[in-house]
Amino acid sequence: MGRPKISIIGAGNVGATTALMIAQKSLGDVVMVDIVEGMPQGKALDMSQASPILGYDLEISGTNSYEGISGSDVVVITCGKPRRPGMSREDLLFENARIVGSAAEQVKRYAPDSIVIVVTNPLDVMTYHTWRITGFPPNRVMGQAGVLDSARFRYFIAKELNVSVEDVQAMVLGGHGDTMVPLPRYTTVAGIPIEELMSGERIRELVERTRRGGGEIVELLKTASAFYAPAAAVAEMVESILLDKKRILPCSAYLSGQYGLEDIFIGVPVKLGAGGVEEIIELKLTDEELSLLHRSAKVYREGIKALGW
Ligand code: NAI
Ligand code: 2OP
Repeated sequence: MGRPKISIIGAGNVGATTALMIAQKSLGDVVMVDIVEGMPQGKALDMSQASPILGYDLEISGTNSYEGISGSDVVVITCGKPRRPGMSREDLLFENARIVGSAAEQVKRYAPDSIVIVVTNPLDVMTYHTWRITGFPPNRVMGQAGVLDSARFRYFIAKELNVSVEDVQAMVLGGHGDTMVPLPRYTTVAGIPIEELMSGERIRELVERTRRGGGEIVELLKTASAFYAPAAAVAEMVESILLDKKRILPCSAYLSGQYGLEDIFIGVPVKLGAGGVEEIIELKLTDEELSLLHRSAKVYREGIKALGW
């Protein structure tokens, strides 16, 4: 029985870091595809040479040809441009739609049975675009955003309360952008609601910092956007799928009536297992939380329309 195969389209900051984290978790053989000649091959060789030290026995390869993704179990799409300072994720829309669209066509051709995780921004619109172009059933297409956004929220809460990040659970819904919806009511420290541990004012400040979490890093890096935490988030999703862990994680998933929304990809909690998105979990939201989710969806619906869907 062969090992699972994970292909990563785009071997830049997020793609290559994801490849390394997947290898370190020994989830399967990894193929990186990029348009830059020699780059994915070079990174793959470098990661392979780290294997005796890091202790993974896997095939890690790089290629400039999409044929390399044939038979993949999971495909991660990270190709495209990252944000530059002052740019919103939405500014990237048309440039990345072209790049992601061409990748999605190749995924359909060479990896028709795969489960696809989209990372490229603007995330929720790129995930919809990929779903339409591949024609895959919606359970086999999803976007990574909520795992990253809630990890940022968890980290800020842990620092504030001087507790282990391990004990902080958080839930962030909505699109991966300024309209994301962190949910303090569903955020706990060892089961204790954070509303019992922090003032409402402080919670609002951490929610705001979470919303701006990606931008804060772009401002610091100047020529790149975040990649360590994004890659860790993707690796956690791949692990839940390939090990059929059925984790409940916030992901950009296709809604067909849940939360009063349809024909859109947006961040909601899902059960992630061998079948991909096996279930959409419907949280009981207050009217205010639900209206924030709908406001977020409105922004992404405009993006979808702008692409002509
Ligand atoms: P990067 O510039 O380091 O890497 C992108 C790679 O895509 C480059 O190596 C480029 O050569 C490659 N590429 C471009 N066109 C291609 C094609 N047609 N086929 C294959 N490869 C192609 O950028 P980075 O930092 O890795 O970010 C990638 C994307 O992920 C950006 O859109 C960024 O905004 C997004 N992102 C999303 C996050 C999320 O939470 N959803 C978090 C972090 C980044
Ligand atoms: C982030 O949130 C840029 O979307 C990316 O870091």
